[in-house]
Amino acid sequence: MNSVFLNKAALAIVMSVGVAWLSYVVSDVVVPHTAPAKPAFSLPGLENVPIKPYLAQASVSRGAELARQICASCHAFKPGALDGVGPNLAGVAGRTIASVAPYSYSEALKSLKEHSWTDQNLSDWLTAPARFAPGTRMSLMGIPVVTQRADIIAYLHTLTASLPAGKNSE
Ligand code: HEC
Repeated sequence: MNSVFLNKAALAIVMSVGVAWLSYVVSDVVVPHTAPAKPAFSLPGLENVPIKPYLAQASVSRGAELARQICASCHAFKPGALDGVGPNLAGVAGRTIASVAPYSYSEALKSLKEHSWTDQNLSDWLTAPARFAPGTRMSLMGIPVVTQRADIIAYLHTLTASLPAGKNSE
């Protein structure tokens, strides 16, 4: 290998680094990377919508049908039934989060044990489980349609014997 070749190779490297650096500087001036003050868009249905007004119009039978289609593959609804992939949901409305004794909850859900499943918490959870409890094992994308969440929650009320329909907002 002669030194002319080495010189040329070294020059090539220096020039490419130089060009890369120059493009970086120029692009930074043309498109400064500052974070926008407000996100440019938000995903529809992912805001925490107050659920109470929707519960007034909710349908238990539609909720039961949705629960059968969406939740039943992982959850039981009958008191005393064995837990499935997820815990038994009989009595879930109003109960303390992550509190069905033998079920082994994720740390994500256990960390919320000081709270209970109010209607609003159920709604926010069902909107996007992974956002409500990052790290949860409930692998459901979420139910973006607020009226469907209300129907499902109204149905969940019927699984808590002591809970009159629509009274779980505290
Ligand atoms: C793919 C399986 C799967 C589906 C489908 C599913 N879940 Fe779950 N669910 C889970 C798992 C797993 C957990 C436990 C999560 C954890 O420990 O992080 C859970 C936990 C829950 C909890 C918390 C219960 C408690 O005792 O604190 C509620 C409430 C719940 N699911 C409601 C629903 C509803 C309502 C649906 C239908 C709209 C649904 N889930 C669909 C798997 C599922």
